[in-house]
Amino acid sequence: MAYSEKLLDHYDNPRNIGSFDKNDGGVGTGLVGAPACGDVMKLQIKVGADGRIADAKFKTFGCGSAIASSSLATEWVKGKTLEEAEKIKNTEIAQHLSLPPVKIHCSVLAEDAIKAAIKDFRTKQGSKDKAAE
Ligand code: FES
Ligand code: FES
Repeated sequence: MAYSEKLLDHYDNPRNIGSFDKNDGGVGTGLVGAPACGDVMKLQIKVGADGRIADAKFKTFGCGSAIASSSLATEWVKGKTLEEAEKIKNTEIAQHLSLPPVKIHCSVLAEDAIKAAIKDFRTKQGSKDKAAE
């Protein structure tokens, strides 16, 4: 099976590996697992005062396609608003990396991780607003 150059590039040189402090108020953390294979992906976003995603990091315990998908996802969310980042589709990730059909679920993991990170950030914002009242 031939993997695309873009996929191998993200696999060989993953962007934005690492973690933020998940207790930081500006950070949203998404942790998702793929039932199909047991792989796990953690994706974090750091939201700036302007409401845009200033930075993103990931850690993926999984296959090369999952690593490449999460690496690409961290690049794509940067500079976006939460609403824009939410619209990133796994099909766009799969298409960009030319993932083979058996690896499509790896890109689903990345879409789910972005959504989970945004949800976590919003939940934290909500509780902060309440605390401030
Ligand atoms: Fe083994 Fe994904 S199934 S790494
Ligand atoms: Fe399961 Fe890639 S995430 S094989």
